[in-house]
Amino acid sequence: MNAIYKALIFSPKNEHTLTVLNPGYLVVSKTGLMEYVGKKDPRRKYKGYKFFDYSDRLICPGFVDTHNHLPQYAFAGIGDKDLLPWLENYTFPREKMFAKKEEAQKSAKIFFGDLIKNGTTTTLTYATIHKSATDIAFQAAKKAGLRAVIGKVMMDQNSPAYLTENTRQSLADCQELIEKWHGHGGRLFYALTPRFAITCSFKLMEAVGKMARETGAYIQTHLSENLGEIAFTKKLFPKYRNYTDVYDKAGLLGPKTIMAHCIYLGEAEQKRIKETGTKISHCPTSNRFLSSGIMPFRHYRQTGLCMGLGTDVAGGYSLSMLNEMKEAIENSKLLAVFSKGKMAPPMTLPEAFYLATLGGAKVLSMEKQTGSLEAGKQADFLVIDHRKADPARQKSLYMKPEQILSKLIYRGTAEMIEQVFVGGKKLN
Ligand code: GUN
Ligand code: FE
Repeated sequence: MNAIYKALIFSPKNEHTLTVLNPGYLVVSKTGLMEYVGKKDPRRKYKGYKFFDYSDRLICPGFVDTHNHLPQYAFAGIGDKDLLPWLENYTFPREKMFAKKEEAQKSAKIFFGDLIKNGTTTTLTYATIHKSATDIAFQAAKKAGLRAVIGKVMMDQNSPAYLTENTRQSLADCQELIEKWHGHGGRLFYALTPRFAITCSFKLMEAVGKMARETGAYIQTHLSENLGEIAFTKKLFPKYRNYTDVYDKAGLLGPKTIMAHCIYLGEAEQKRIKETGTKISHCPTSNRFLSSGIMPFRHYRQTGLCMGLGTDVAGGYSLSMLNEMKEAIENSKLLAVFSKGKMAPPMTLPEAFYLATLGGAKVLSMEKQTGSLEAGKQADFLVIDHRKADPARQKSLYMKPEQILSKLIYRGTAEMIEQVFVGGKKLN
């Protein structure tokens, strides 16, 4: 449907600047593209378009969650151990359940439904090692209508017997899933997903790099999240200079590779991440919840690394990208204080907003399609009743754009997100 929306409009201009239109207009074509975003009333030019007056609402781009685990959503909120025992005690036994079709179906439907409720319109998601459960996840994402990059987890060593794959079979399953889903409908894509170096043989990782180059699929994995994990990786791969070097020598780094966490990267590792155009998913909630650490955001920015935000559910306890922005800023403040200013200044509100929208789109090489409100892009946007974040219910107070953004990030909830659009179509 051709439509015009009038609202307070926020969109990231760049990492430091928020574009604010008050009021602004968003014109969406039947095909789901934005035709015009601006201050001038477009109603005379776009005749016959249905007009929606949301003058008392906020419209902003849909959020991009660059790292999460579908099967783990069931135990979100439980983080009583740090990474390696947490994987053994909670993650692996839960992921085993996805051998059952019914469990995979039920969980996938809830997961994508809740992502949409939280305003996430693009997601990068881990399934489990099961081909059928991964296929079911794609089907559920297709039905839900959001943009999704999904991958079957790969593990062929150091995993419980019930989750250890045969290397060749693992690769063959991925090849099949890529052929079926990579590029499907322009919204669904495949990510080769070697879980992390500990659970992957070098042979498997090398074959993943080759398959990604041949098919154009994404790669997602975990890097430098936890000190115990880093020590174990060094022991398993003693020939390599550092953790990043293991992935580098296996041919896994590149512009379509997304590394989650990256808390403890040394200078040489940062240099290779930058040179290869590899992307980082910053997961501040998870990093605190699993006592992993605090990623030095300001330092990485100054180094020029490309980052987005990831909830890492269930390392993170919430699918809310509003919460993720808040945690990103709060973690960054702590680091600024405890580093005695070396890691200052902390992340700003517009920077957090950028990471959750256009920054995330860049991480997924989708910045031409989504992440900001601009003519020519897909109409992926949210209608939010931002007034509900105002405890005094006094609309006239604290109405500067940065104050509205601040309240949204610190006090925003899924209930305030009234409408969620992907490609111009309402999903909720
Ligand atoms: N490292 C390897 N697997 C996982 C996982 O499932 N969650 C997190 N947070 N880190 C991991
Ligand atoms: Fe993770």
